[in-house]
Amino acid sequence: MRKITIAIDGYSSTGKSTVAKHLAKDLGYVYVDTGAMYRAVTLYAIRKGYFGSADKNVEALVNDLPKINLKFVFNEGLGFSEIYLNGENVEKEIRTLNVSAFVSPVAEIQAVRVKLVEMQQEMGKEKGIVMDGRDIGTVVFPQAELKVFMTASPKARATRRYKELLDRGEQVTYQEVLENVESRDFIDSNREFSPLRKAEDAIEFDNSDIGLQDQFERLHGYALRLINKK
Ligand code: DC
Repeated sequence: MRKITIAIDGYSSTGKSTVAKHLAKDLGYVYVDTGAMYRAVTLYAIRKGYFGSADKNVEALVNDLPKINLKFVFNEGLGFSEIYLNGENVEKEIRTLNVSAFVSPVAEIQAVRVKLVEMQQEMGKEKGIVMDGRDIGTVVFPQAELKVFMTASPKARATRRYKELLDRGEQVTYQEVLENVESRDFIDSNREFSPLRKAEDAIEFDNSDIGLQDQFERLHGYALRLINKK
């Protein structure tokens, strides 16, 4: 059976990673959450004091890039890979609202993007991969056989994200989450380098009113058709 590359892009909190993980597991493919990579670099910058409410030291972060080591390690129990920053499992810490607040400005830095895109292309060179992010179908793997662009209304996305954060015990208001979703949409779509946009040949998928199982079945159907194509 031939192996393909599956690129899933879209706005934040559209449920890209949930459906991408499920798809990878079913196909026996590797799953890579590229947002986790941008988040881990952001966590590094916050811890170093380079990024904070009053700070934005791009130069210091760029100088430190060679010192930032990222690795995905498969967790058998969970059934997916977790991200390690310089040897430390940071999977939980990168999902806090504090990291979300600074990740878009960090992801705007060209040197950060160059480093992470290179790593992503290396991870996917053998195909058999499902990668989700913002620029996978446009920049990382423009030749991907299957490209999906996920959207949902800001309110639907903020509602999902708010529930997730509450479940994790974070003290946040719905309004804060909605503002974060909207501000990340704006920065991600308007940045100078690799802005979030739909690749011309991507399938657009609005999942505001579609359940997870239904989303999975549709994407799985597209993938199998391509995998079995002679
Ligand atoms: O998918 P996510 O919400 O975890 O991504 C976090 C941020 O990282 C998002 O606001 C934009 C950025 N990002 C990016 O610029 N390019 C990617 N391929 C993935 C994420």
